[in-house]
Amino acid sequence: MTILLVFLVYAIALVIGLARGARRKPLAAQVASTTRQISQVLIVGATGGTGRQLVAQALERGYEVTAFVRNPSSLKIEHPKLRIMPGDVLDYASVETAMRGQDAVLSALGHKQFFYPTRILSDGTKNLLKAMETQGVTRFVCETSLGIGSSVGRLGIYYTFLIIPLVLPFYFWDKRRQEQIIESSTAEWVIVRPGLLTNAARRGLCRHSHAIGSFLWTVRISRADVADFMLKQLSEDTYLRKSVGACG
Ligand SMILES: NC(=O)c1ccc[n+]([C@@H]2O[C@H](COP(=O)([O-])OP(=O)(O)OC[C@H]3O[C@@H](n4cnc5c(N)ncnc54)[C@H](OP(=O)(O)O)[C@@H]3O)[C@@H](O)[C@H]2O)c1
Repeated sequence: MTILLVFLVYAIALVIGLARGARRKPLAAQVASTTRQISQVLIVGATGGTGRQLVAQALERGYEVTAFVRNPSSLKIEHPKLRIMPGDVLDYASVETAMRGQDAVLSALGHKQFFYPTRILSDGTKNLLKAMETQGVTRFVCETSLGIGSSVGRLGIYYTFLIIPLVLPFYFWDKRRQEQIIESSTAEWVIVRPGLLTNAARRGLCRHSHAIGSFLWTVRISRADVADFMLKQLSEDTYLRKSVGACG
């Protein structure tokens, strides 16, 4: 009983921590877009589930794609408009090299090092934003997750009070830091917070808003639909400098 109580207090404290610092409104002065026509896009996390979808769908839409990958042999897509650039988000020099000539960045960065504190997402994103500023790249669309900032609790009770506190506390803490770094940047950012990801086919249908998700059950969306929605954010300003939840 005592263990259960301690766990509950810890889970509630984590929820409060993940919600702290959530931005309610964008700054009015920041809403206008200055982005020029986008033709060259850098995709980070391109060998991951969402990343592969981003690469394939960006090529379908005619973008010149640079896939930023740690291991080029793990991306088995060939296309005349695809350039594969080896690098690591934690290595600033490789990030800045990849950033040259880009018009926008899409990030589906993630990892599986759940059980100890890491800063891969936040430090990697800091490097991306710094290189963007240096190279004059403005638009940044970044996939994070429901369950952070203003969306705390919206991954459902099972994730909020069991999976996140037990399995993902360090990961979500890093994601929260990642979002805060993005929000305080000068980039034209859009944070896309999906529900639980699936590998289902693209339906082209995605529900999106600041209030997506449920406090009771876990909403889902396919990686293909997340990629589709993220690519739309390159040319739409609806969610400019905002965080938006997405589910199928
Ligand atoms: N799983 C879910 O249900 C769920 C729900 C909501 C949100 N999300 C979030 O959505 C995002 C995408 O998830 P996913 O499952 O589609 O992707 P994923 O399969 O986890 O892929 C992550 C990508 O990030 C890359 N990466 C990791 N560390 C890197 C580094 N230091 N430098 C460069 N690249 C690095 C990986 O490269 P390697 O191939 O070299 O490892 C991989 O391409 C993640 O942030 C995840 O947390 C997931």
